[in-house]
Amino acid sequence: MSFHTIDQATARLNRSELAVPGSQPQLFEKAAQSEADVIFLDLEDAVAPDDKVQARKNIIEGLNDIDWNSKTMSVRINGLDTHFMYRDVVDVIEQAGQRLDLIMIPKVGTAADVYALDMMVTQIEDAMGFTKRIGFEHIIETALGMQNVNEIASASRRNESLHFGVADYAASTRARTTIIGGVNKDYAVLTDPLDADQTRQSHWGDMWHHPISKMIIAARANGLRPVDGPFGDFSDPDGYQAAAKRAAVLGCEGKWAIHPSQISLANKVMSPSDEEVDRAQRILEAMKVATAEGKGAVSLDGRLIDIASIRQAEVLVQKAEQISQST
Ligand code: GLV
Ligand code: MG
Repeated sequence: MSFHTIDQATARLNRSELAVPGSQPQLFEKAAQSEADVIFLDLEDAVAPDDKVQARKNIIEGLNDIDWNSKTMSVRINGLDTHFMYRDVVDVIEQAGQRLDLIMIPKVGTAADVYALDMMVTQIEDAMGFTKRIGFEHIIETALGMQNVNEIASASRRNESLHFGVADYAASTRARTTIIGGVNKDYAVLTDPLDADQTRQSHWGDMWHHPISKMIIAARANGLRPVDGPFGDFSDPDGYQAAAKRAAVLGCEGKWAIHPSQISLANKVMSPSDEEVDRAQRILEAMKVATAEGKGAVSLDGRLIDIASIRQAEVLVQKAEQISQST
């Protein structure tokens, strides 16, 4: 282990993160009753420019008046390149900061963007006498943001999570996609022509593998939660689950839900199964016995387990405990 220690961000369940447009306050109550772990009320891309001011008012009112239970609440502000951003931050935090856990920063490009927001938020919190500190969620969704993801991840003690914003990322990199978060049949390998009697097959690949992996590494190296962003076709639960599983396998803790039907899918994929928890507990037991006998590795169910297995098993058991405490 390195001498450098990694401080972990505030522990929160973040399996599903529901996007709710600030311009549609009629959806707020239903969102509060949902099973989503985190809700972000949106002031950015789901809200037309003419509706931004009213959406801000709706969000302030909704945060103050609705019983959001124990949900983690976030607001997606407008980008730093728009004149809406400063009022989003000032008005929402001054008027509803007590019920806000996080702000979500879209299209973050550099560590200086984070620094500027940290400065603003700190001034507002101090002026208001708030003691609770609002955390930051950053959407990595531009080529610039992806290039600077490591510096962004370490730019503020408020940072809690990094999100892969696949829609804007595709636009920024000019990637060829049609469905948000979907894949493209042109990103495929063709089986070898020399493979005798076989007809050649095209195996689709995951065109998002590299950027999401890069973001996950930056998040984990800085103690933050990596979260996968949207999957646009909400009439395709199988496609959604496949994308969520890929993200989970790589290390993401959660995925966005842009439709309520996606919440339970994300919660399921991002929670360890009973079998996984059971095996993790057996690993911990087996390693306890091994350690007492002075051994660093033993076999369990015909497979080698060692001290690294303890760390993986502990992470899994902790996640299961976090989930059971939230229900
Ligand atoms: C999310 O904001 C995205 O662009 O995918
Ligand atoms: Mg976006």
